[in-house]
Amino acid sequence: MDLKKYDKSGKSLNIMPLANKNKQRDYHGKWLEDNSRFEPTPEDIKCELQLSALSVFEPLDGIISYRQFEKEIAKWENAWVPYLRREGISNDRDGLLLVGLEGDTPSDSLSMPEARKRTGKKLKETDFTYKTELYYDLKCLHPILENFDTLGRTMLVKVNQGGWFPPHKDSPMLTRDSIRIVIFLGPNTDVESYQWHMDGKAWPIAPNRAYYVDTRKTHRTNSWTDGSIHCVVNVPKTWENVLKIMSMTKDF
Ligand SMILES: [Fe+2]
Repeated sequence: MDLKKYDKSGKSLNIMPLANKNKQRDYHGKWLEDNSRFEPTPEDIKCELQLSALSVFEPLDGIISYRQFEKEIAKWENAWVPYLRREGISNDRDGLLLVGLEGDTPSDSLSMPEARKRTGKKLKETDFTYKTELYYDLKCLHPILENFDTLGRTMLVKVNQGGWFPPHKDSPMLTRDSIRIVIFLGPNTDVESYQWHMDGKAWPIAPNRAYYVDTRKTHRTNSWTDGSIHCVVNVPKTWENVLKIMSMTKDF
């Protein structure tokens, strides 16, 4: 089976063209087009400065019950969808949506480039505000997720053996609209099974723990095992939410 073109059941993949890096990283060009584009508000500056008190990979308090997660995810076993398959690239990763666009189900395409393609709109993380049935099913994650009045795009990502994310930055400008919490689920997320490289090293992930991750910094990930699952949570960047995250840290 050519996993560059078909999913594991033989269905044709919704393949996206390769990313245009030169366009994506042309912050200067975008600024020349519109000088207001990356102008931070006082709240942007306040939030980013406060967040710089945290590590780029800051552990949050509490351990998720993986036994409970396994029970709650069971009915969704066949609902996983391929996560952003790029033209000509083999990359075995799947996803499920917890917070999406209006009318989305957990199996709607969840990567930002796919969501932009299917809606024809320029979307921000905080444009995704609708909780799917899966969100309500995964009660084991609520001790983290329910801290926030609203959430942006939130999803489970399952990286199988050989699956990877290339080195990239997510919204590195001060004006980013959301900040990231990542919850690592199950035994296949420890550093021997799965690696999250950032700032020159693979971070020692404690399975079933949530972290504030500064995804503005270059990061890359890869899995040596099947079924390495993590939940990516986009928290709207507000001063109140920054204070909530400060209050959720494991070490204080
Ligand atoms: Fe990322």
